[in-house]
Amino acid sequence: MKKIGVFTSGGDAPGMNACIRAVVRTALKAGLEVYGIRRGYAGMIEGDIIPLDKYSVSNILQLGGTILRSARSREFRTEEGRARARAKLAEYGISHLVAIGGDGTFAGARVFLKEYPELSIVGVPGTIDNDLFGTDFTIGYDTAINTAMRAIDNIKDTANSHDRVFFVEVMGRDAGFIALRTAIATGAEAVLVPEARTDIAELVETLRWNYRHKKTSSIVIVAEGDDEGGAFDIAKKVKQQMPDCEYRVTILGHIQRGGSPTCQERVLATQLGMEAVNALLDGSSGIMVGQVCQKITYTPLEKAIKHHHPMDKTMLKMVSLLA
Ligand code: F6P
Repeated sequence: MKKIGVFTSGGDAPGMNACIRAVVRTALKAGLEVYGIRRGYAGMIEGDIIPLDKYSVSNILQLGGTILRSARSREFRTEEGRARARAKLAEYGISHLVAIGGDGTFAGARVFLKEYPELSIVGVPGTIDNDLFGTDFTIGYDTAINTAMRAIDNIKDTANSHDRVFFVEVMGRDAGFIALRTAIATGAEAVLVPEARTDIAELVETLRWNYRHKKTSSIVIVAEGDDEGGAFDIAKKVKQQMPDCEYRVTILGHIQRGGSPTCQERVLATQLGMEAVNALLDGSSGIMVGQVCQKITYTPLEKAIKHHHPMDKTMLKMVSLLA
């Protein structure tokens, strides 16, 4: 192994740059040549590949987004697309890759490895959703929940001033981890997540109880993948049963994906980036490096994307218990 390629793919996440920096500098220290593949699998297919030296990653640790940019490639889902990507890697003499991304990125890496087993790929969990098995936290999650928390703190000020119910939708695709943590951290009155069935009648009862007990403003955090729909749908359903409810809806959206990574994020991203290169140097492939109980772990890509780590039901109950 003389050359290594690194890329970010899928939704960008704060901390990806810190991880790229760690990958590049660890690999250079080990005497490897490092290439950055821009725009994920799309850039791999097109040969959008650039050499990286120590200084290409200077002063990026604190930046959100990804200097290598990102994409969701349709073409890589086809056999022809993957063959083109393989050919481009061969042109550059790259056979070892660090893939920073989420389940889509790892699903792509698995198929690629099945077709071209001579390649070696190690994954690093990079997604704000925290929906991968084999790591307590994914890169991007901590920053995203802090961003969401601050936004909801602001919403609480206006909710209190106007005696309103706010339905705040957070990201997470089909996982409720962002919703759960921000609900606890902001003292929300309710949280709706895909991992637990949503009962609108029960939610209405909670809000009514609040009114009866002189709590005239409430925050309901809705994970975007909730079984009863997004925040607008839920608000409408509540309004049907509670016509006197004065409500507003806020979709936090992509502000959760940006911003400077938190300290915890930068440290995690740096550790995982370094360990990904070490794993490749040790001859590993088809695995994701993660961190469980502060220890570095290695999980087969297949397992990392097939299972979520389970949602902590006690934490879920905590929201209604303390509201
Ligand atoms: O996976 C990260 C994520 O931000 C999800 O939370 C969200 O559902 C999705 O990406 C949004 O994707 P896009 O930026 O392509 O709209």
